[in-house]
Amino acid sequence: MQNILITGGAGFIGSHVVRRFVNSYPNYNIINMDCLTYAGNLENLKDVEGKPNYRFVKVDIRDEEGVAKVFADYSIDGVIHLAAESHVDRSITNPMDFIKTNIEGTVVLLNAARKQWGSNFEGKLFYHISTDEVYGSLGDEGLFTETTPYDPRSPYSASKASSDFLVRAYNHTYKLPIVISNCSNNYGPNQFPEKLIPLVISNIQQLKPLPIYGKGLNVRDWLYVEDHAQAIDTIFHNGVIGETYNIGGENEWKNIDLVKLLCKIMDSKLGREAGTSEKLITFVTDRAGHDLRYAIDSSKIARELGWKPTVTFEQGLEKTVDWYLDNKSWVNDILSGEYANYYQQQYGGR
Ligand code: NAD
Ligand code: DAU
Repeated sequence: MQNILITGGAGFIGSHVVRRFVNSYPNYNIINMDCLTYAGNLENLKDVEGKPNYRFVKVDIRDEEGVAKVFADYSIDGVIHLAAESHVDRSITNPMDFIKTNIEGTVVLLNAARKQWGSNFEGKLFYHISTDEVYGSLGDEGLFTETTPYDPRSPYSASKASSDFLVRAYNHTYKLPIVISNCSNNYGPNQFPEKLIPLVISNIQQLKPLPIYGKGLNVRDWLYVEDHAQAIDTIFHNGVIGETYNIGGENEWKNIDLVKLLCKIMDSKLGREAGTSEKLITFVTDRAGHDLRYAIDSSKIARELGWKPTVTFEQGLEKTVDWYLDNKSWVNDILSGEYANYYQQQYGGR
């Protein structure tokens, strides 16, 4: 029996990781720790909430006492740490939330693990989930490898880079058993509609403008979220302590091309005349400090752990669009809440 703490399990990627672990490992106790910010939604986990090997605890990772109590009460052996403020645009308007959760919150968890585990690290692991954004921005050529020097350029990526360094420092200084992975852009069901793909799907449905930052020439490498969850499972079980693994989709798209592809898929799904959605494309002021291109070399995880993406972009976008069309109430609940104020502030009256 293992007691595994998953932080941020009510969020987008976290909910897919929780579901995978609860269903695949009935002999593990999965404890989902999440404070339910605007991005956390227990609806994402309705299908697992009654399972005997699943518990949810509403605790903020910045709360030292609350976190220590969870480690002690559940005798935590393994941590998969996903809780974070995750949206770059919000980090530009409000950096402090990112410093507090992503940096301080991570240190609270590291301290709790040290306290709980003492110096007996047998069977223990602290797995930190990070992002490719810590490596900075690429030009037209090249890929991020695990040895690319860190060069974070937004408050979000700087906070994630700091947390990566702290996790490594606890390994070096205190011998805490850690592993880190840095992943590219995820997409799929349950992603909060502030992020590009669900925002575009939602706006097309409402015939609202599709805001493209700058000229739409920035490039991202997209990975289906369940493939990321599978990579996390692989690294949790087979990753080498102290190592870092890059995870990517080998699937680079310019934003404008991706949005045009989504327009085509949506026109056909909604039975609208071809070209209807593309007319909604609106070029807006660029994101401050907008990184041009991210692209991941994931040959290390392929070579050493045998992981590769399994879902093609065509299949993944189809599943994603279908999920959003079948779950309109999930999006509508979000659109009618705090998010409405954020949208007004970020995009004005558009
Ligand atoms: P998300 O914003 O959808 O979810 C974050 C979750 O963390 C939410 O459930 C939220 O309630 C919770 N949370 C936030 N602050 C908390 C706090 N102080 N205490 C407890 N819980 C808190 O994020 P996501 O997109 O699922 O990303 C998850 C992790 O993966 C993050 O660490 C992110 O940096 C990383 N990541 C994301 C992507 C991506 O494309 N989304 C890619 C690579 C890495
Ligand atoms: O690379 C991994 C990262 O991917 C994760 O660490 C982050 O948590 C995740 O949010 C994501 O960051 P991005 O900034 O790349 O994702 P986002 O969906 O916000 O934007 C994708 C691209 O689309 C980016 O170039 C900005 C652009 N964009 C985004 C929005 C929201 C637009 O052109 N218009 C928009 O309205």
